[in-house]
Amino acid sequence: MLNSIALITPSGRTLSVKALGSGPAVILLHGFPLDHRMWTQTAEHLGTWFHCLIPELRGFGLSSLDDQYRIEDLADDIDVMRKHLAPDQQVHLIGLSMGGYVALEYWRKYGQHLKSLTLTNTKPSVDDTAARQARLDMAERVVQAGTWPTVQPLMGRLIAANSSGTEVHQLLQTILQTASPAAIAAAQRAMAERRDFVPHLESIKLPTLVLTGQLDPLAPPDATRQWAERISTSSYHEIPSVGHMTPMEAPAHFNRLVGEFLLSNR
Ligand code: MLT
Repeated sequence: MLNSIALITPSGRTLSVKALGSGPAVILLHGFPLDHRMWTQTAEHLGTWFHCLIPELRGFGLSSLDDQYRIEDLADDIDVMRKHLAPDQQVHLIGLSMGGYVALEYWRKYGQHLKSLTLTNTKPSVDDTAARQARLDMAERVVQAGTWPTVQPLMGRLIAANSSGTEVHQLLQTILQTASPAAIAAAQRAMAERRDFVPHLESIKLPTLVLTGQLDPLAPPDATRQWAERISTSSYHEIPSVGHMTPMEAPAHFNRLVGEFLLSNR
């Protein structure tokens, strides 16, 4: 059972964190437009050895949202949490998709506090013009049309067809349906402006695990393997038969790979 923690940031926002286990800290950053629930099975596994901390990004879950933010502001939130809940130690950081964009910003700003980096179903590159415009369009539309009509088309891109109709599909749909329109709009605008980390990949010098799903249309295996190879300290794995949500679609495989990596870098 996850413990619930509510931190107050220096600007007075609530930062919701779920926690499980004890030991060295592992921070798990969720994707868009999700919340801590995507990481439940991962935390239950890693909590055997580690203190799992799952912050909810601005506006998602029980974390509050004020103004428009940048992805690097989310890295600042993560460091507020680290100072409170895992001071005086280096932490392991895991980010899925949007959580990966935040993890890369955290590495850039606070890399001295990291022991390892796990980048799953994500990418270091920015959007092309059409993808960027699609984000801005969604940010406009969601406020008028509401969450579910706007995000329903994402379902087919988040999980592979063979996960359709399963419990994973049901849980993902429930999580998507509870995301707030304002959080979706702010996250899309922040992702549209995110920094390009491709030129910085060679500078990542800490143990790094890169993962994706064989059927992930958002972080396809070939492209993911190519950028992972530019990080000299990385290892790359592709999880067969699953899409974008590897920790939910293939929890046993995902947990084994991540658990072995973290234990070998403890
Ligand atoms: C996510 O899963 O976080 C999203 O696919 C990220 C994105 O829209 O780039």
